[in-house]
Amino acid sequence: MERSAKQRTMFILPAGQSAAPERAATSNLPAYLTPLIGREQEVQAVCALLQRQEVRLLTLTGSGGVGKTRLGVHIATEVLNDFADGVSFVSLAPISDPDLVIPTIAKSLDLTVGDAPLEHLKTSLQEKQLLLLLDNFEQVGAAAPLVVELLGSCPQVKALVTSRMVLRVQGEYDFSVQPLPLPDLTQLPGIETLPSYAAIALFLQRALAITSDFQLTSTNAPTIAEICTRLDGLPLAIELAAARPTCSHLKLCWHDWSIDWPP
Ligand SMILES: Nc1ncnc2c1ncn2[C@@H]1O[C@H](COP(=O)(O)OP(=O)(O)OP(=O)(O)O)[C@@H](O)[C@H]1O
Ligand SMILES: [Mg+2]
Repeated sequence: MERSAKQRTMFILPAGQSAAPERAATSNLPAYLTPLIGREQEVQAVCALLQRQEVRLLTLTGSGGVGKTRLGVHIATEVLNDFADGVSFVSLAPISDPDLVIPTIAKSLDLTVGDAPLEHLKTSLQEKQLLLLLDNFEQVGAAAPLVVELLGSCPQVKALVTSRMVLRVQGEYDFSVQPLPLPDLTQLPGIETLPSYAAIALFLQRALAITSDFQLTSTNAPTIAEICTRLDGLPLAIELAAARPTCSHLKLCWHDWSIDWPP
């Protein structure tokens, strides 16, 4: 398979070391500038599922902003070496026409497909050992049977899908992505322990990026915990909240903290 310059080598086995697969795996996965916070158990569980031979189509489901894409990209990086022909990230966010799904997959692989894109893609991927990361599938749910047909013809291709809802097709494994863990507000742990809750850690990381001297203190800790709890541990909402300029001067009570979300 031809690779474009954007598809960089991600993993090369040390010289002399033999292992299957033998080709150096490549990917076009997006790179994040900040580390993944938490999600250790999810990464372990999904990687284990993907490594099972019978799991060919795995959907990470969850509400908007819960972290499906972020988790999917991380998992794809973790399992990259299991796929000799690498991982292809396919962003479906820009399309809403299910007929464009197969051509979009082909494009992510730098393949030109003609009038019969599915047949062409089946032929091209028949011998490939590849993971397709199909991102934002909820936009194009009607194309799910086409993906199943593709996987049916390409025995060593798997699909990791992110979607706000399950695809409801044969052979699909569903992994539900939950919000980030939160502390119990009625028994708030001390500030040494609080950052071990991923929701709090994410808030702190983003607040620090905006305000370099931002500190978790025993005074602002209850407010931060309350903000993260009111935002249900949703990473996107926490990121937005922590980025608000008011965060650097956190009023020490939720009610004083001007915010547009419901009380
Ligand atoms: N565990 C995490 N650690 C650090 N950042 C995270 C984590 N989870 C999510 N994020 C960040 O939160 C934001 C929302 O995450 P993401 O885009 O993955 O959500 P999503 O579930 O795919 O949303 P959508 O349904 O809209 O596609 C992103 O900026 C992402 O980088
Ligand atoms: Mg997403």
